[in-house]
Amino acid sequence: MTRLFLALSALTLILVGIAAAKDTTDRQYLAAQEQYQKDYPGSNFNVQVQQLFPAFSAATVGTSFRVERCISCHVPDIQTIGPVIAAQRLSTDFFRYEPNATQIAHDYHLTGVHPAYVTLNGSTSPPAMSYAQYGADNFHSYSYVVNGKKQTAALGGPLPLFLNPTSLPPGTQQGIDSIGCVVCHNGNRLGLALAGIDNAHENLIINPTYAFTAGAELYYKNCAQCHGGQGEGGVGPPLNNQDRLGFYNEDFYNRCITYGFTDFEHYGSVMPNWGGIAPGYTYDSARDKQMPLPSSVLSPTQIQILIQFIRHWENYATVP
Ligand code: HEC
Ligand code: HEC
Ligand code: HEC
Repeated sequence: MTRLFLALSALTLILVGIAAAKDTTDRQYLAAQEQYQKDYPGSNFNVQVQQLFPAFSAATVGTSFRVERCISCHVPDIQTIGPVIAAQRLSTDFFRYEPNATQIAHDYHLTGVHPAYVTLNGSTSPPAMSYAQYGADNFHSYSYVVNGKKQTAALGGPLPLFLNPTSLPPGTQQGIDSIGCVVCHNGNRLGLALAGIDNAHENLIINPTYAFTAGAELYYKNCAQCHGGQGEGGVGPPLNNQDRLGFYNEDFYNRCITYGFTDFEHYGSVMPNWGGIAPGYTYDSARDKQMPLPSSVLSPTQIQILIQFIRHWENYATVP
């Protein structure tokens, strides 16, 4: 027993050691930080990994924090400059350095104004997102049909319950410095060390407002009748299951939705092929319950928005 314990402790130490070593060798964020210091002279922060410890209680799990490193590259001095200036810099830097900024802004309907706060009714100065509009209680009502019966889904918004400004002491405001980034962006959290920028940017919802609105519309029109009004499942499996959401990557969701039952993972099911027919598929009357849709019903962009919409069920409050 003692020996097992010692072996496990040693293993833990080795793993922590490897993680620390990786952190110091894979520092693609250093260049971004140095650039930032040049752009904003007088920025008051050390050039080393910058982390944010979100202030809401759901960000604490037992004795540890859900730490995010988005700020190590984006606004490393957010704690000194505060949410309003940080929000300005996020937009400015994006249009200055992102090579495809114009295209991204166009595709995702970006306004170029980054929210600094979450407030009850939103505001433009300082820019804030409206909890009344995008909060957990009610976003929009969508209707969908199951077995010929019309149902109405009262859809929870993209901002989780713990960001509700009315649950705060009067006079306090929720800035992006205390919220963190992934609540709205649904990022890959500590993905920084392994593959740099790309990895840090997996699963980002760049514009929750747009992805959410457009995603909900597509979902209630095409998917809810089989996967449920809250993603709880029905004819098809639940899509809001935290274990599945955490387990499957973007690529899996992309294949499921694009190819449906024409891909090997879903042979013989009734999941439609929304984006085309899987390469190598041939109709098999003994196996297949239906003929595949001959041409794409949804575009790759629409499928991407749907994946982001499904991912909103994987929210901060429930994912370990
Ligand atoms: C290793 C540095 C680095 C880290 C860590 C990082 N980013 Fe970025 N990010 C960049 C750079 C560089 C750009 C492109 C220029 C810009 O917008 O400043 C960018 C662009 C973006 C964009 C614009 C859309 C896009 O994909 O180009 C979003 C949104 C974004 N980052 C959010 C995040 C979030 C949320 C996190 C934490 C999960 C994060 N970033 C972590 C460096 C980083
Ligand atoms: C309250 C929700 C929220 C939080 C918290 C948040 N963002 Fe955003 N983010 C947005 C929205 C909404 C947009 C789209 C803004 C627009 O229309 O241009 C956006 C856009 C961006 C962009 C693209 C530039 C732009 O202004 O469009 C970057 C980069 C970005 N966010 C990074 C971050 C980082 C890094 C953090 C953490 C410090 C963060 N965001 C925190 C909601 C949020
Ligand atoms: C006719 C009913 C039906 C419709 C409509 C439908 N699905 Fe499905 N879906 C299914 C079934 C059944 C499966 C399970 C396939 C299997 O078990 O191989 C499935 C599987 C999936 C999966 C894989 C889930 C997992 O965890 O394994 C995803 C993701 C998915 N569907 C998304 C969608 C989206 C997005 C839409 C709308 C564009 C949609 N579905 C429309 C029936 C449907």
